[in-house]
Amino acid sequence: MKLISRYTMMLLAFVLMLTVAVPTVLASGTTDNSGGKKLVLGTSADFAPYEFHKVIDGKDEIVGFDIEIAKEIAADLGAELVIEDMGFDGLLPALQSGRVDLVISGMTPTEERKKSIDFSDTYYKSKQVIMIRTEDAGKYLTMADLQNEKIGVQKGSIQETIGQGIPGAQLTALDKISDIVLQLQTNRVNAAIVEDTVAAGYLDDAIGLAPIVVDGEQVEAAIGIRKGNTELLNAVNSTLDRLKSENRIEEMVTEASQLMVGKDTKNIFEVFWAYKSFYAKGIGYTLLLSALGVLFGVIIGLIICMFRMHDMAILRWIGTAYVELIRGTPMLVQLMIIYYGLSLTFGINFSALQAGVITLSINSGAYLAEIFRAGVQGVDRGQLEAARSLGMGRGAAMRYIILPQAFKAVLPAIGNEFVTIIKESSIISIIGMVDIMYQASVVKNITYQGMNPFLIAAAIYFVMTFILSKLLGRLERKLNASDRR
Ligand code: ARG
Repeated sequence: MKLISRYTMMLLAFVLMLTVAVPTVLASGTTDNSGGKKLVLGTSADFAPYEFHKVIDGKDEIVGFDIEIAKEIAADLGAELVIEDMGFDGLLPALQSGRVDLVISGMTPTEERKKSIDFSDTYYKSKQVIMIRTEDAGKYLTMADLQNEKIGVQKGSIQETIGQGIPGAQLTALDKISDIVLQLQTNRVNAAIVEDTVAAGYLDDAIGLAPIVVDGEQVEAAIGIRKGNTELLNAVNSTLDRLKSENRIEEMVTEASQLMVGKDTKNIFEVFWAYKSFYAKGIGYTLLLSALGVLFGVIIGLIICMFRMHDMAILRWIGTAYVELIRGTPMLVQLMIIYYGLSLTFGINFSALQAGVITLSINSGAYLAEIFRAGVQGVDRGQLEAARSLGMGRGAAMRYIILPQAFKAVLPAIGNEFVTIIKESSIISIIGMVDIMYQASVVKNITYQGMNPFLIAAAIYFVMTFILSKLLGRLERKLNASDRR
């Protein structure tokens, strides 16, 4: 009799257990608003020594001489500096839309960019160079040698434009410089166009420089400011003037270069230990995503299952259409539609977390609906007839006779689905959800290790799904106990 409510309780308990992660995670996502003036800096922190991630005292920090300059500007303005790290090609839109107040990211003040934003005076100059694998030394001597070659560049950078000008070159344009370096190390590209100051940080026994000057001119870096914000522009320029007259910028470059780490030789346990706080944060978000995905997925699944088995044809039709549509399209495509499509077309702006939960739950809802239906239909018809002949109403027969048996029969399938949700939630990392997968990429970007960060992520996912399977197996055995006599 009490079977159903007991199952429901257990399920709820599981979901609640997972949702414990909510407050912790949400709390870490909010910035306190103490009322003071804020200066929001947009940057792509993959560009050592300009701006890059570095773990200092176990905490991930964004450092570099661009950041030092930003601190000086903020101090001169009496404002608190807030840093927003994003892909380089997201910086211009972020500045234009007002998400950030200024962009310091080793950005070159090109004519093209000047059409949409304003630039401060130049604060640094570097040169364009080609990075190659050391074993290829001597292979590329002039620009002509790069024709028809596989070349890595940063998306949205002037290096991408240069690459597009090389005849026959096959360009791989990626978000972060570290991704490009990994592509080079793993033979996916054979050369990368970068700036010498940045390349210096990567030169080790595996990566060398080709003696090719891409263009004779120096690459300048300036600070981007929203068009018409002359007040900030003047403030920025006067801070730059002061720093230049004190020779501070040169010092900052030297200091930042000293912070740059060489290749990371940590083993997997050391990587895990050094970045445990990263993974912990990722676990919180993965749990949150999966818990909410399971919760709403079950609700959607029940509703759709009821639709599919309803007496009214139209409801049955809706149920079937839902299942076919959701099951027949990739989750990644659904995510893109919900996150970008709805936002750009209808102005519905879901946060990454909201978009992730919606995608996961509508998705698992479709699968769960089918599982529930299979369960109900799998119960012998005679059971319903017997219940009815005992005088039970349809509802009561369902509740006390059919559903408990159905639930028990499909428990393994439901368990499968929950495990799938935990694993599939990793897809949400693509829109910037700070889950385990996302954090693994961050660690990869910091350490330049391609294997360990992901092995750690795999281990964490495995432990999570394994614990869940064990719990479900236990539940299954408990329920089966009633069958033995
Ligand atoms: N100077 C180049 C440009 O303006 C590359 C800058 C890349 N900066 C970065 N933080 N990744 O396009």
